[in-house]
Amino acid sequence: MLYRGLIALWLILIWPALTWAEDRLVRLHADEALIETGLMKHILPRFSLKTQVRVELVGPEAAQVLLARDGRPLFEGAGAIWKLDAPGAGHPGTDKFVAWLKSDVGARTIQGFAPEGVALFGPPSAEEPEVATLDYDGDAAEGHRVALAKCTRCHAVDDKTRWSSIGSTPSFSVLRTLEDWDGRFSAFYVLAPHGAFTQITDITEPFPPERPSPISPIELTLDEVEAILAYVAALGAADLGQPLEHQ
Ligand code: HEC
Repeated sequence: MLYRGLIALWLILIWPALTWAEDRLVRLHADEALIETGLMKHILPRFSLKTQVRVELVGPEAAQVLLARDGRPLFEGAGAIWKLDAPGAGHPGTDKFVAWLKSDVGARTIQGFAPEGVALFGPPSAEEPEVATLDYDGDAAEGHRVALAKCTRCHAVDDKTRWSSIGSTPSFSVLRTLEDWDGRFSAFYVLAPHGAFTQITDITEPFPPERPSPISPIELTLDEVEAILAYVAALGAADLGQPLEHQ
């Protein structure tokens, strides 16, 4: 009898209280450099006061929410863009905390942290797409082959492809006459329009699922980009005298 009574008491009083407590606790991992700025001591009590959800700082493995270098850019300052990742999404306290961090109130609280009267954090700037540095010692003959296979859908890459490509797209020999031709060819895969349909092995991010490549994608290795660079460098020597003839 007493035993049943205890179980009933547990179910009615203690168990709900425990899950209630668990719903109102978020385990957060923040990067050490971020903690050192004092930002957590500024924002966490304000969040807890407003929502009655407590935030505990833990190591990365136990965390439901992480503020570090991976995930969605949230704010910038103290030398980095800080990103939000929420492996524990779906838990009530976690969802409240994430919603608060993304909200205007959360952003204002973060940007309101100004220890010496100077705000340390602001909105994240757009990240520069990564571009690899290239050499010119690629294989020019290989570059010619790759360009014929992958660029002639739009560009004239030599005399023979002059008529088959899209007339409004600059030919390689015209591009070669530009002073910064090498920068353009080294980075063509992040320059419009190529970013939307070009993948460089191990360099570019996969196309976002909501924006798949509009045309059958072009895939190249960095070696192939270097080879194209060598091919275009060699093009110049032959063609620079009469560049516009190829238009
Ligand atoms: C689907 C069509 C298409 C394909 C395929 C294509 N390009 Fe282009 N490319 C363009 C267009 C259009 C422009 C002109 C963009 C402009 O003027 O803003 C361009 C411009 C360029 C430029 C000059 C970039 C600049 O901003 O000045 C380079 C370099 C270039 N392409 C390299 C390549 C290489 C190398 C390949 C093959 C691996 C290739 N393109 C494949 C359409 C294409």
